Amino acid sequence: MNFFENDDNAIAPEAPGETVSGARLIPRITIQAFCEHSQTAQIIEDTTHDRRMSKVALTTHNGGLDGAVETYRTNPTPNLIIVETTLPADRIEAELARLAEVCDASTRVVVIGHVNDVMLYRSLIRAGVSEYLVMPAGSATIINAISDLFVSEGSAPIGRSIGFIAAKGGAGASTISHNVAWAIARTIRQDVLVVDLDLPFGTAGLDFNQDPPQGVADAVFAKDKMDAVMLDRLMSKAANHVSLLAAPATLDRTYDMAERSFEQIIELSQQHVPVVILDIPHLWTAWVRHTLAALDEVVIVAEPDLANLRNAKSLADAIKAMRPSESEPIVVVNKTGIAKRPEISPTEFATSIECRLVAQIGFDPALFGTAANNGQMIAEVSASHKVNEAFRTIGLDVTGRAAVEAAGRSTSLRLPDLFRLRKRA
Ligand SMILES: Nc1ncnc2c1ncn2[C@@H]1O[C@H](COP(=O)(O)OP(=O)(O)OP(=O)(O)O)[C@@H](O)[C@H]1O
Ligand SMILES: [Mg+2]
Repeated sequence: MNFFENDDNAIAPEAPGETVSGARLIPRITIQAFCEHSQTAQIIEDTTHDRRMSKVALTTHNGGLDGAVETYRTNPTPNLIIVETTLPADRIEAELARLAEVCDASTRVVVIGHVNDVMLYRSLIRAGVSEYLVMPAGSATIINAISDLFVSEGSAPIGRSIGFIAAKGGAGASTISHNVAWAIARTIRQDVLVVDLDLPFGTAGLDFNQDPPQGVADAVFAKDKMDAVMLDRLMSKAANHVSLLAAPATLDRTYDMAERSFEQIIELSQQHVPVVILDIPHLWTAWVRHTLAALDEVVIVAEPDLANLRNAKSLADAIKAMRPSESEPIVVVNKTGIAKRPEISPTEFATSIECRLVAQIGFDPALFGTAANNGQMIAEVSASHKVNEAFRTIGLDVTGRAAVEAAGRSTSLRLPDLFRLRKRA
């Protein structure tokens, strides 16, 4: 960007001297652009022809800043918002504050303006805007800006890793993790990768009605050969916005995984997919412990009985001790209300294990059994069932959206509170 050119409202298809540099793919992010001029929308849409944008889900809309504010009052924000404004320099920041009020903290914002002013640029960056581009800018400039944000050395991983583990085998960790993945994809409309770490017996493939020839085992055993291109090849599409690294679920070999077996795959996944859900089997091995220690969020799924209570407490204590400065594990109490079964109340359960109860889910064998046998998600079997609300609540919680929703996207939040300050290279 050159601040010392004359202001120019004319939009050139490609500014002089622009080249598309670098070739690394931009991760599977969602981008929504709100433009004031149809030419700007066209330039942004043209970015999708670039190979580096092949994984990106991009949509353009009219209405500029006002359109964006209106949209995000009622809709979740994507990974990146590009917003065009023709406002004068002294009004841009105030108007952007309105966007900040309705914007999730993890969403990044690139502003396209028509004012070439270095003071404005600095103040927007200070306020947490990721980049300010001045028109005329071409598609290449926009791609380079996106690339700098999401693939440059030192750019923060875009993905959040969330592990689900059962306090006792069969408590429902896999089922809940798959349905939460689906709920996140539907509600937040971000790409979710489900990694099935139960190599011999995992059910993610069955639950999503997929039988991919390759998956997580190929990723683990590829060791050093594993890279972004290979990860992409091994991921199979399970649903709209949901990908899968399926378990082989065959017993032709044993799976004595080393402690750090999954480290690289998880890190790589987090660089390429906004939400990574790990379906962890009910085990206590070196690799399970190591994986749990490294994740952003851990969800313990438990049934409301004594054995689950004891195990959940042991798990919660161990996880807290391993990662004292990270987020604490949260608990979902599943299969409540089984006829004639005495049970511990979910609130008491959570209090005794000193974990936050994020949801409780009733026992419903007809619904869960039908979904499991048909290879469907619960929402596909019964879209209006109230358990879908629990999956959505868990999804919002583990992706950090619940806090924003609870804050009511309040007007007291200022721009720097919500637009994350980025370190600039
Ligand atoms: N709320 C529920 N009501 C009825 N059935 C359920 C419920 N939740 C899960 N199930 C069923 O319980 C069974 C075990 O679930 P799942 O495979 O998810 O357990 P898990 O915790 O992943 O087990 P493991 O830790 O051994 O991997 C499945 O058949 C699933 O359909
Ligand atoms: Mg399981």
